Amino acid sequence: MKKILLVVGARPNFMKVAPVYKEFKKHPDKAEVRLCHTGQHYDVKMSDVFFQQLGIPEPDFYLGVGSASHAVQTANIMTEFEKVCLEMQPDVVLVAGDVNSTIACGLVAVKLHIKLGHIEAGLRSFDRTMPEEINRLLTDAISDYLFVTEKSGLENLKNEGVPDEKIIFTGNCMIDTLVNFLPKVEESDTSDRLGVKPGEYILLTFHRPANVDTAEFFVNLRDFVAKYGRNHKILFPIHPRTRANMKNFGAEIDDENLIMTEPLSYLDFLHVMRYAKVVVTDSGGVQEETTYLGVPCITVRDNTERPITVEVGTNILAGTDFRNVFAALDDLLAGNVKKGAIPDLWDGQAASRVVDGLLNR
Ligand code: UD1
Repeated sequence: MKKILLVVGARPNFMKVAPVYKEFKKHPDKAEVRLCHTGQHYDVKMSDVFFQQLGIPEPDFYLGVGSASHAVQTANIMTEFEKVCLEMQPDVVLVAGDVNSTIACGLVAVKLHIKLGHIEAGLRSFDRTMPEEINRLLTDAISDYLFVTEKSGLENLKNEGVPDEKIIFTGNCMIDTLVNFLPKVEESDTSDRLGVKPGEYILLTFHRPANVDTAEFFVNLRDFVAKYGRNHKILFPIHPRTRANMKNFGAEIDDENLIMTEPLSYLDFLHVMRYAKVVVTDSGGVQEETTYLGVPCITVRDNTERPITVEVGTNILAGTDFRNVFAALDDLLAGNVKKGAIPDLWDGQAASRVVDGLLNR
């Protein structure tokens, strides 16, 4: 019997860990699984609502660390997580993605000589100014089991000298959740509720510090709304960081065609992604979800750690210069829509391969 401790911390972790948790529960003879939530994200709309919708129970351990600078947040998670590890004595700690909770808990585990597994290993943007890139590099360097979502991850880990026997190509656990919830999403009345018509609106999401911590970004956003709001509704569920910065820069936009909402629940957000004409984003996960859904996506970043979404999927990497974003969007709205395909092993079965890799190796 293996004692497994699964860690979640921030919004994008929940959809990746939920299917793995459920899969472990199918093997009570082989695994005892517990869930720890660091509390990096804590608002009802950033956290609780995901637990309710994804059907995962209240966490066994809640660390309640909240927001702070990188150093303070990481240190607080480590201090609290060490107590959990000492109490539970897990055989394996499993972390996901690239948020501060990922590296903080990973570091605690290896220092206590607990085996570490990383869900979504090997992704690289090659941009070390991104906090997530540092989290990815360091977590992979100390992990014993590296579960990889796409082939670039296999190449990156090989180039970094990670031994083959640690690497397991599982596919994408976040897509397991999407596949599972798609029928419900198609039935939901979200677009009616939010006042948009399926296939006719542009969906925006922005939260990355490199964009939303600059005044220039909000000038570009205003131009975007002025240009595209003439012919489209623009739906913008707004991350707390983005909302705070918009206020601080005095850059609020009042336009009847711009619909700004609080962060949406998982089901509502999947629905508005599924039925968007195009999604314009700086998120990592949204690039993957739109690729699976076959919905056009324009990514407002200079790089992506998920190149399969560009090579195989519907993603267009436009960069952060909005002239290029406008050019890409104009082209798309003129009918030049990129046809995508679904990457290998994004088939709804990734979590079973993670669990198999952990229990049967
Ligand atoms: C974090 C992740 C990022 C991920 C994003 C998804 C790191 C380094 N970054 O960024 O990779 O893409 O989550 O959302 O781990 N806040 C709230 N309520 C909350 C959480 C945050 O109001 O529940 C506000 C706080 O003012 C906080 C700010 O949002 O200071 C940023 O939160 P934080 O967790 O530091 O980073 P994110 O930008 O969310």
